[in-house]
Amino acid sequence: MTAKRSLLSGFGGYLPERIVTNDELATWLDTSDEWIRARTGIAQRHMAGEGDTAVSMAAQAARQALDYAGARPDDVDAVIVATSTPDQAFPSTAVRVQAELGMTGGFGFDLAAACSGFIYALSMADSLIRSGQARSALVIGSEVYSRILDKSDRGTYVLFGDGAGAVYLTSTDEAGEAGILSTHLHSDGRYGDLLFVDGATGQHDKPAHLRMNGREVFRHAVGKLSSSVDEVLAANGLTHADVNWLVPHQANLRIIDGVARKLALPPERVVVTVDRHANTSAASIPLALNEAVRDGRINRGDLVLMEALGGGLTWGSALARL
Ligand code: COA
Repeated sequence: MTAKRSLLSGFGGYLPERIVTNDELATWLDTSDEWIRARTGIAQRHMAGEGDTAVSMAAQAARQALDYAGARPDDVDAVIVATSTPDQAFPSTAVRVQAELGMTGGFGFDLAAACSGFIYALSMADSLIRSGQARSALVIGSEVYSRILDKSDRGTYVLFGDGAGAVYLTSTDEAGEAGILSTHLHSDGRYGDLLFVDGATGQHDKPAHLRMNGREVFRHAVGKLSSSVDEVLAANGLTHADVNWLVPHQANLRIIDGVARKLALPPERVVVTVDRHANTSAASIPLALNEAVRDGRINRGDLVLMEALGGGLTWGSALARL
């Protein structure tokens, strides 16, 4: 018997119905489709409607991931939801999702690591599975950033969208190459003021808004992501040439292109959704994975490299063979 590993067994995603184009934003915000496309690659984003909450979107994505794997809610041991925009301080989004799915066992918790949340959650779930504490896990990113955006700040409002993505992990101890190879996490709180939310739950006299020094975040992003990508490949004795797919956090096409260039990966090996989804924070990687697995681009046996950077600053990478 070999050591336990986590297999990526199911994929799911949910995007709110309402699509907001750059042109629509430009009708009331001092911006333009040309500016947004040129600086970010974003053309549109989905925005939560009245019925869309962090819980409802997470549950929809989770259901799809379970269906993909042919699993039932009661097969799930752990539910981890990465979110910076929970509907409530507590109970956690994860336990609400348990209830929505009809789970009667297992455990769930939320994790806050901003846009790196999915990589962090994947790492935690992988550790639970490797240690034997869980035999399966739903790893979900669900975000409603439209709730924390300042409508008068064109520097941030145009960048984000809402949505949820999920991956279902199962444990295996059979010989083989498939599964999560390793995950690598970093944070540096000295950069906390580059990207933050200026309030907390309970401060109802002052709505909390996302604040960002975009230029500085950009400056950190390509360097930190490139070293994170080098770190995960070196840890597994692999090189850039072994990577079949880069599935990056979708913040900005220029950041994605910068990392892909360092990896010498051609654009057709990079999964991009930022043009249609904008930045959905912790949901962006599982949404991109779900899309590329379901449309047949990513196949079993492919080596998939994931990376993200977000508020904190937090950043990290993960390597998995499907
Ligand atoms: N529409 C039109 N003009 C805008 C604008 C908008 N939505 N937002 C900012 N501008 C203006 C600025 O006011 C500035 O004008 P000025 O020169 O008259 O002062 C000009 O565009 C350039 O602003 P700057 O911030 O230097 O642009 P940039 O090239 O750095 O691009 C970002 C801005 C936000 C797109 C870019 O810095 C970025 O992507 N940063 C990383 C952000 C990120 O990914 N965050 C999430 C990480 S998870």
